[in-house]
Amino acid sequence: MGRGVIGSALLAGMVVAAAGIAAGQHQPAGPVAKAPIPTDPAAYRQPAEGIPFPADNPYSRAKHELGERLFHDPRLSGGDTMSCASCHDPSLGFGDGKVLAVGEKGQQAPRHTPTLWNLAWAPTLFWDGRAPSLEAQATGPIANPVEMAQDLAALPAELAADPEYPAQFAAAFPEAPGVTLDNLAKALATFERTLVSPETPFDRWAAGDETAVPEAAKRGFALFTGKAQCAACHSGWAFTDHAFYDIGLPGTGPGRGGVLGQPRLENAWKTPTLREVGRHAPYMHDGSLATLEAVIDHYAGREVERPTLAPELPRKLVLSAQEKADLLAFLKTLDSDRPQDTAPVLAALTLPAPKGHDHGPKAQDRVEVTQRDKAFSAKSVALKPGGTLVIHNDDSRAHNIRVFAPSMDYDSGLQDPGQSVSVPFKAPGEYTAVCNIHPTMRLKVTVGPDKGAHPGH
Ligand code: HEC
Ligand code: HEC
Repeated sequence: MGRGVIGSALLAGMVVAAAGIAAGQHQPAGPVAKAPIPTDPAAYRQPAEGIPFPADNPYSRAKHELGERLFHDPRLSGGDTMSCASCHDPSLGFGDGKVLAVGEKGQQAPRHTPTLWNLAWAPTLFWDGRAPSLEAQATGPIANPVEMAQDLAALPAELAADPEYPAQFAAAFPEAPGVTLDNLAKALATFERTLVSPETPFDRWAAGDETAVPEAAKRGFALFTGKAQCAACHSGWAFTDHAFYDIGLPGTGPGRGGVLGQPRLENAWKTPTLREVGRHAPYMHDGSLATLEAVIDHYAGREVERPTLAPELPRKLVLSAQEKADLLAFLKTLDSDRPQDTAPVLAALTLPAPKGHDHGPKAQDRVEVTQRDKAFSAKSVALKPGGTLVIHNDDSRAHNIRVFAPSMDYDSGLQDPGQSVSVPFKAPGEYTAVCNIHPTMRLKVTVGPDKGAHPGH
């Protein structure tokens, strides 16, 4: 596991807890303030920017159409009766309307089927974030015995026997033609990335049309971004920060903690998007809340107090009947008025911005960055081989820094507010430091000799 340094970081954390002072502890720059929540609806408007497709699986119409066909094809399951769309039903908001998913052979899956809207922006997949990409996720449910129960090794031959698939796969993957699991996963992922929720009444209000939503919804939005603090987690245009929290539902489970081996993240599940939320009841990872009314009642003071409960969650929140109705009216404005099962209108399809000829910052022996408001103070840093990256937690929340590459596997353990970690980088290369609890936090680390210092050579 390569937890050498980490061990010491964890140890430091334990000593901090015990004695209050230790190596690795750091004085935050000032009082750790909570991030201000934007209260202007324009800050939550769906951007016109296109869908991000990864460089190693760019968009093509042929791939999109193949992915859509595969998504609806029951031959992907062992008994040829269940497709992805059997559970992720477009007419049910890409959910299944059930408390817990039911597999091809009638077995109950341990979790509720989530919606598939807006996953192109999700850094991790599944309620506990265990899959790192849509490509990596795609074959999971096919092979899962309590879902589609398919023998993965037999699937390519079964699909290749179809009169059209071989040509469709060849058109979608001219570089590496073939009915392969790899191509199947890429096509499914491409189709899934196009599932961007359509424009809503909320967007029209946010764009300046005061008549687009009722007054109750405007009051509900003020509660959502104010007193009820919903937007502390349901932030940005998709109303999710893609991070993991325990919101105090009565049931318990391993959650993100099971993936990271961190008991403090037990019961913490991924924040879902709230766009189209009215269309895929019931709610939560365990499907335990049947309606949006029940969800609002939960947040109004029904949370179970326990050590894992998210600090961001208001405690014993009191909401009047009027305030609950207003919150509900706001949530309803996040449903589009397009017919449910029509394909979304795609914004311009874009690839990640081409890398400009950027020499980047000068390589140093030691670089310090801070964490605040679920973000690093820099987007990229440059180190000399053998250099050290020091990360100070000036945030109001704990983080868990991970750097995973062929040459290194670093895990900071839980890094509490005020704590610092030092990450040594030995080998030249490009690395990404990611927070495992708030995976949109990413810091690019370039390790190499300092070219910029010798412009004459
Ligand atoms: C038997 C019902 C069922 C079928 C069939 C099914 N899924 Fe799912 N899907 C689920 C459940 C349940 C989860 C949540 C599992 C978890 O988080 O542990 C899920 C999660 C997902 C996620 C992650 C969503 C998120 O918010 O992180 C994606 C993506 C997904 N499924 C795509 C697919 C694709 C593609 C197929 C077909 C190859 C498929 N599913 C077939 C039930 C199903
Ligand atoms: C501490 C972060 C946090 C806060 C604050 C928060 N939520 Fe959530 N929300 C989550 C997480 C995490 C989940 C998923 C929990 C689970 O599945 O167990 C969730 C789930 C939901 C769902 C269900 C979505 C689905 O697809 O199942 C709705 C609706 C929702 N929240 C609305 C709200 C509203 C309204 C508020 C304010 C009253 C709010 N949330 C406050 C983190 C938060």
